[in-house]
Amino acid sequence: MVILVTGGMGFIGSAVVRRLLATTDATVVNIDRLTYAASPDSLGPWLRHPRHLHLRADICDPAAIRAAFAQHRPAAVMHLAAESHVDRSIDGPAEFIRTNVVGTQVLLEAAREHWMALDGAARAAFRFHHVSTDEVFGSLESRDATPFCEHTRYDPRSPYSASKAASDHLVRAWQHTYGFPSFVSNTTNNYGPWQFPEKLIPLVALNALEGKPLPVYGDGSNIRDWIHVEDHAEALVLALQRGQPGATYCLGPRQERTNLEVVQAICATLDRLRPDPAGPRARLITFVKDRPGHDFRYAMDPSGAERALGWKAKRDFEAGLDETLRWYLANEAWWRPIRARHYAGQRLGTAAA
Ligand SMILES: NC(=O)c1ccc[n+]([C@@H]2O[C@H](COP(=O)([O-])OP(=O)(O)OC[C@H]3O[C@@H](n4cnc5c(N)ncnc54)[C@H](O)[C@@H]3O)[C@@H](O)[C@H]2O)c1
Repeated sequence: MVILVTGGMGFIGSAVVRRLLATTDATVVNIDRLTYAASPDSLGPWLRHPRHLHLRADICDPAAIRAAFAQHRPAAVMHLAAESHVDRSIDGPAEFIRTNVVGTQVLLEAAREHWMALDGAARAAFRFHHVSTDEVFGSLESRDATPFCEHTRYDPRSPYSASKAASDHLVRAWQHTYGFPSFVSNTTNNYGPWQFPEKLIPLVALNALEGKPLPVYGDGSNIRDWIHVEDHAEALVLALQRGQPGATYCLGPRQERTNLEVVQAICATLDRLRPDPAGPRARLITFVKDRPGHDFRYAMDPSGAERALGWKAKRDFEAGLDETLRWYLANEAWWRPIRARHYAGQRLGTAAA
């Protein structure tokens, strides 16, 4: 059986590809354009495995995507390719609309054409799984507001979340209008190994190791619900196997932390794992001007998805963070060239200021 994964060289996509190859006998066709965020190294030995095939293609290119469906005839699609960094969406929204909205439409059309040509059992079993974010639900404005769930109204507030919301709507429209067997999962902030060092946890950790300032937006009170990428990948593969057309799966770990708590935990963990002769790293915490339009709190009630999928996030945040920071300490060979050549930790997302 062939599973077509998009964005399988990215942070979450690579965890999904590793898991599919390790736990199923599927062949994975991995469509990834290899943007700045891609890391083929994240697939390790699976990169050259006979059941893994990388196609360097743009999901916005209808001819390339239709050809991939015609040649590989997938039994299912897992769609993760996206522009994914909120700060970059503030500086340059056009690329987010192109990949996240137009790319999803191109993929849906190619997948629908392929699905319509299937017959019998293959057609009934076909699934299109669209991977999305909790950010489409907007911002919870207090600590005790009810967490998001499958029934929460959409209220995206950044160019990134608006582009993801648009793509979610397209996926549901294809299901409703054409009976196309698609479903959506929405998940909280991910962390773990191989995350590109523009995102909060690796950015702060690597700055801390280099003795650089640790930027905290505003007063650091914004709250996120942190899921380990391997817990997320497990849920995504289960959703592919058990997911029902038209469904929404809200995935989360119930591990809310303020940004300041996360940064302090990173400092304390690194101080323990690799003490800094200059003193505790919390001295490097620097409060910087807030992100424009910064959402206050995201939190998910995952109970519906837990029941439907027979899944629960396993890792507690501090244990997962310890494991993640040990990985960054052991894998300088991966992140040093990225920091030197592609992204040195400079402030992004200031265009609206
Ligand atoms: N990172 C998170 O915390 C988080 C949380 C919830 C949902 N999500 C969603 O999960 C998905 C994966 O996120 P991620 O953090 O792994 O992203 P990422 O930025 O690490 O990886 C995205 C991958 O998509 C590829 N890609 C980008 N544009 C493409 C195009 N036009 N054609 C083909 N490939 C293209 C890139 O090369 C890269 O490998 C995204 O859809 C994102 O919105 C992410």
